[in-house]
Amino acid sequence: MDMANICHIYFQEDGTMNNNKWWKEAFGYQIYIRSFYDANNDGIGDLQGITEKLPYLSYLGVNLIWICPFYKSPMDDNGYDVMDFYAVDKTYGTLEDFKVLVEEAHKRGIRVIIDLILNHTSDEHSWFIESRKSKDNPYRDYYIWRPPRYDELGNRKEPTNWASFFGGGCWEYDEQTDEYYMKIFSKKMPDLNWDNHQVQEEMVKVAKYWLDLGVDGFRVDAVAHLAKAPFVDSDMPTNYRYTPDWGRFSNLPKLHEYLKMMRKKAFSGYDLMVVGEVGGGALVEDALKYSAPEEEELDMVFNFDHNWCNNSWSAKDRTELKINVPHLKEMFDKWQTGLFGKAWNAIYWLNHDQPRVVTHYGDDEGPLHDRSAKALAVALYFMWGTPFIYNGEEIGMTNPHFKSIADFQDVSFITQYYLNIQNGTDPEAYIAHASLSTRDNARTLMQWNDGLHGGFTKGTPWNLINENYRTINVESQIKDPNSILNFYRKIIEIRTKSPFRNIIIYGSYELIEKEHNQIYAYLRRFEGRNLLVLCNLTKEAATVDKLPYTLEERVLGTMDKQININKKMVLEPYEAYVLEIKEEI
Ligand code: GLC
Ligand code: CA
Repeated sequence: MDMANICHIYFQEDGTMNNNKWWKEAFGYQIYIRSFYDANNDGIGDLQGITEKLPYLSYLGVNLIWICPFYKSPMDDNGYDVMDFYAVDKTYGTLEDFKVLVEEAHKRGIRVIIDLILNHTSDEHSWFIESRKSKDNPYRDYYIWRPPRYDELGNRKEPTNWASFFGGGCWEYDEQTDEYYMKIFSKKMPDLNWDNHQVQEEMVKVAKYWLDLGVDGFRVDAVAHLAKAPFVDSDMPTNYRYTPDWGRFSNLPKLHEYLKMMRKKAFSGYDLMVVGEVGGGALVEDALKYSAPEEEELDMVFNFDHNWCNNSWSAKDRTELKINVPHLKEMFDKWQTGLFGKAWNAIYWLNHDQPRVVTHYGDDEGPLHDRSAKALAVALYFMWGTPFIYNGEEIGMTNPHFKSIADFQDVSFITQYYLNIQNGTDPEAYIAHASLSTRDNARTLMQWNDGLHGGFTKGTPWNLINENYRTINVESQIKDPNSILNFYRKIIEIRTKSPFRNIIIYGSYELIEKEHNQIYAYLRRFEGRNLLVLCNLTKEAATVDKLPYTLEERVLGTMDKQININKKMVLEPYEAYVLEIKEEI
């Protein structure tokens, strides 16, 4: 398949063009470049590594990849801290490598999107180096600077009491000019000042540069945070030194002006897709502001609602983890029904900021590892919205066992670890508990085979590999027709090529068995044909009453069994199906 085939324009029966877009029909795959595949054996994943694995991605069947940042960076946050938006970091390769990657991907009918990081730069970016020099530097206003406040005793304090996402406050003091700069992530990631038109122009240039190089769109990082509230203290009650009042810099009205500007000046004129990261607490109404087509901002957004539907914030360690199916259903239903017909959706289980889904919600180390991974896939990938697999999910990769702080790489985890230890928390207990949510779970090396370093590198790898690579790896799963990998391939094929394709992509969504606390079930309907998705998402058997439909065809299942939906059923742990049904009239 080449680009011409995936660029087709869609006409409806009456000859008018409908609003189908390639990205509505795409199946995405997210690549955390650093951990994916190391082609030159220096221990770090790279662009050439991705190019070398394109045949694997074609074999899997995906036709869209999102590559995490490979810009020149000091790697405080593994590349989300950009030092030069126009350069490839040398650990990842060269601009030429990137061009080859895009060309080779396109030859295979695989589109490529990359991270566009608008909210901040690295403190080593030339703009910031200038900005911090003096109050009248031409770049001063590219960032957000405020003078200190002083308490009654004359102690210097931050301009506001707001917390940062990565621990500590969201301001960093800079001696050179005796002012604080804002940083809602790490102190090496100063926030850009989007009120400044020059900043806006710079980012338009950056986006167009990559689009002109052939990328098919962007995942816009941290897009919810571009606008900031007036700088006054939060009075939200808190036990912490700084107040985690994310509303002070999330989903504020002003940012929609910025995004409308970006759509008009940077994105128009290209056949691209733009997906924004709009996490934590966003409402459907917020999402519509970003992604309803008439708003002319983004094409879709990633929300985080389904990411924390278990007890991972309170569990002592992984043995206590337990999925909350009713909560999860409520979250999926919120987005599937809330956006239907109004805006497009993006669906995914995890990304590079989340734990591995089989550990989080499935049976990661028990006998039901494979079946739970498959059931989770069934539950997600038959909803509407552009799907994204996160690398390694397709083989059922799990959270590693972290032993000490030396096993962690993530700046956010490390910052918070030391803050907690200073406050008297027991290090071992902290690690057992905080590892349930750490971003490092998703960043261990991709498990390609059972050889040295899981086939990721022949050099010394930058990060841990999960010890289970000897049994959970791509090579062995290619050979096993019943593997998770082959199950994912079936799903992708059904979703992109089978006669059920339109039902899955465009059909309506209705949650059924609403009150059931183990079963997630929904109907998809399109032009008189229907799919029923029925999943037991728990480790226990579940009873389901007979359903008022006629079974037409079993499309997919996690178990090799006949199912009769017209009598009371007992679904075994993680037994899950996709069934074509007729509704009784
Ligand atoms: C987003 C990214 C995350 C990064 C942060 C700051 O949340 O997904 O990995 O640390 O933005 O760029
Ligand atoms: Ca490398």
